[in-house]
Amino acid sequence: MDKFIDFHGHFLPNMDDGCKNTAESLEVLRQAAAQGVAAMVATPHFYSSRESVDSFLARRQASYDALLQAMASKPDVVFPEIRLGAEVAYRPNISRLPDLEKLCMANSRYLLLELPFSDWTNEMMREIQNISVARGLIPVLAHLDRYMEHGNRQKIQEFFRMDLLVQVNAECFLSFSGRRTARKLLRYGSIDLLGSDCHNLTSRKPNLAEGIRALQKLSPQTLHHIKHFSAELYDDFK
Ligand SMILES: [Fe+2]
Repeated sequence: MDKFIDFHGHFLPNMDDGCKNTAESLEVLRQAAAQGVAAMVATPHFYSSRESVDSFLARRQASYDALLQAMASKPDVVFPEIRLGAEVAYRPNISRLPDLEKLCMANSRYLLLELPFSDWTNEMMREIQNISVARGLIPVLAHLDRYMEHGNRQKIQEFFRMDLLVQVNAECFLSFSGRRTARKLLRYGSIDLLGSDCHNLTSRKPNLAEGIRALQKLSPQTLHHIKHFSAELYDDFK
C-alpha cells in the first residue's frame, strides 16, 4: 500500500474547532492510518489577534502530550506519525509577528498560512512576500482550492510565480466542481502538498486516501510530483 503524508489537520484534542477530546482524536488517527496515511502534521488554528505565540505553543504541547498518552494506552492500534505545526491566519503585519518561526511545521522553514475569504489586497500580497523575503520562511498556502470563487483568480496566478508552496485539500478532487478548480490550478502551476483538513469523524473526516485515488484519475503526473515532494519535505522535518 502507498504511504501518504497529510500536511493539514485539526486532530489535536480540545485545541481548536477540530477534535473535541482524545477519544475523537484517536479514532481520526486510526482511520487515517487504516487508509494508508503514514504521517500527519497537526495544524491547529492560530490567530495572532487572539493569542500570543507562547500561549498557543503551551496549549499545543499540553494537547499533544494528552494525545501521546492516549495513543500509548492503545498499543495494538496503528497510528500515523505526528509532527506539530499550525495553520496561521493571515492578518496585516503578520510578517512582523515575533516568533513566527516557532509556528512552522516541525521546526522547518515551512509555514502553513490561511488566507482570508474576502477579496485579497495588494498589501496582503506584499506581506506574504515579506514572510519569505524578510523572515526567510516559506509560506505554504493552505487549501488554495477554496478561494477560486472569490474573485481572486489573478492573484492566485501571481502566487504561482512566488517562492511559496501550494497545499490543496483532498476534498477538492471529490466533486465535479472541485475537479474543475483543480484543473484550473494545475494550468497555473503545480500543487505541492495535500491535506485532509480533517476536524472530526462526520462533516470533515480524514479523507486523504479517497482524494488521492481521485487525483490519480485526474492527473497521475500531479500525484507523482506530490508524492515525491511530500516525502522529501517530510524527511527534512526529522
Ligand atoms: Fe484547516
